Amino acid sequence: MISFAAERRWIAAGIVLVVAWCGPCAAQEQRRGFYTPPSADAIHAVVAEHGMVVAQEKIAARIGADVLRRGGNAVDAAVATGFAMAVTYPRAGNIGGGGFMVIHSREHAEDVAIDYRETAPAATTPGMFLGADGKPDIAKSRDSALSIGVPGTVAGLTLALEKYGSGKFTLAALLQPAIDLARDGFVLTDDGADTLPDWHRRLARWPASAKIFSRPDGTSLREGDRLVQTDLAATLSAIAEQGPRGFYEGPVPEKLVKAIGDAGGIMTSDDLKSYQAVIRAPVRGSYRGYDIVSMPQPSSGGVVLLETLNILEGFPMHEMKQGSAPSLHLLIEAMKRAYADRARYLGDPAFISAPVATLISKDYAAKQRAGIDPDHATPWTDALSATPPHEGSNTTHFSVVDSMGNAVSNTYTLNFSYGVGLVADGTGVLLNNELDDFTAAPGASNAFGLVGFEANLPGPGKRPLSSMAPTIVLKDNKPVLVTGSPGGSRIISTVLQVIVNVLDYSMNVAAAVDAPRLHHQWLPDEVRIERGFADDTIAELKAKGHHVVEPLGQTSANSIAVTDYGLLGAPDPRSRGAEAAGQ
Ligand code: GLY
Repeated sequence: MISFAAERRWIAAGIVLVVAWCGPCAAQEQRRGFYTPPSADAIHAVVAEHGMVVAQEKIAARIGADVLRRGGNAVDAAVATGFAMAVTYPRAGNIGGGGFMVIHSREHAEDVAIDYRETAPAATTPGMFLGADGKPDIAKSRDSALSIGVPGTVAGLTLALEKYGSGKFTLAALLQPAIDLARDGFVLTDDGADTLPDWHRRLARWPASAKIFSRPDGTSLREGDRLVQTDLAATLSAIAEQGPRGFYEGPVPEKLVKAIGDAGGIMTSDDLKSYQAVIRAPVRGSYRGYDIVSMPQPSSGGVVLLETLNILEGFPMHEMKQGSAPSLHLLIEAMKRAYADRARYLGDPAFISAPVATLISKDYAAKQRAGIDPDHATPWTDALSATPPHEGSNTTHFSVVDSMGNAVSNTYTLNFSYGVGLVADGTGVLLNNELDDFTAAPGASNAFGLVGFEANLPGPGKRPLSSMAPTIVLKDNKPVLVTGSPGGSRIISTVLQVIVNVLDYSMNVAAAVDAPRLHHQWLPDEVRIERGFADDTIAELKAKGHHVVEPLGQTSANSIAVTDYGLLGAPDPRSRGAEAAGQ
């Protein structure tokens, strides 16, 4: 543990890096941040009776819903959707990245979390992302093959199926739609068509990527073009035939290792062969009589979510108007404190011991709450709890609920949109740049401006700290809300606001997802907001001392509420193509 004074020094250094902020994605994220929500009466959830998949890409959502229709459970549907999105939503759907799945399994009477986060190759060193001057070098951690973590998605989805699938579908059957789509191609539309041209230059740095994502004249594929991924079809077929061994052993990893090595990376066949997805106990807490089940470390998502909810629970949120300055002020103050703890304590639990039980306890929240002044913003320096607690760390989200009472909340990612941009030649696998989620040096920040310390330094076999927060809210042990989001650091505050909107403000899930959001992550000490807040609300927040900045980068909380009226699906309207596919 480093001292408070040292933290301040490192943080000051980190702030400088925040300014560099995800160069290639900034323009696009900013454009998307100017989302203006429709009026409340225009917002309707999609209703289904028997099962539902809400995902960012409609072909994949429908593939999952079809599995439900044919008697599959939520895990079967999630696996089919996850593999299909690796084809139809290459921006974040993947087999070259990683993620997290939270499952409420009625059949097993169990809540579990599947951790399929990427790991750092064995040759990783703590200083790997520093330049010759000893300072963080973001070109290494974001744009180079050194940023590629050992992909976990294939291990994670197959593990979920093996342990929690219905047994009615083979892996090969669930992969078949993805194989067909990769081999035959599909027409590019919606969010894929909106984002691919922005990222084409990054992808086209590598001929194997350019070949797939370009027109014959070398420019980007655009809306209406056909995206065909023949090599990806072959890789998915190898997985269908051999299970995860088809990805982690044999010709596919050989090609991955060669492509990554040729591009300057350090991943070996042993790194791939030894990759393991992990079944973990989710973090659990409660909020106003509901149980909250979310992702444990190596994601910070669940811990930060529970800490913020615990802080808010002591305030009468429902007495303050939703979206009003007093309500937003408390949200901001809670976020600020929990994100500060994220920075200091959280990381890969295989390498560090974080005071998780304390951070998610009601007592600790009460202490945090006591420091909140209803009239004034707390300076970021004071948001660090004075005495550390003592005790014994671009993306896409989909939600699935089936008719048997099972639910899946899955968030997975390549980190940036389209990852590092490198497709390993001969595999069709687009690779991640997840290792930028490590902290290059104590006090430095990642592409999302998240500051970190020793707990999250790079190390061999280590999983970088994530913000992904796939979450299931239960009442009397039955799912009532399944939610999550992409958006890097903004994931957790998004999930928080969806939950508060539903539980405190009784909003229907579509309105809860749609409502304008804001975000504070401790550092930078600013409140990022979407459009849609009233001018006088913003003025009131500023008067309390908050530094309010527009825009807020993209998030997309594809959620499902389980209600007396059936399943209500809320595809997030912030980007094109999200769909609630139900039956
Ligand atoms: N790469 C974003 C996250 O895991 O939080």
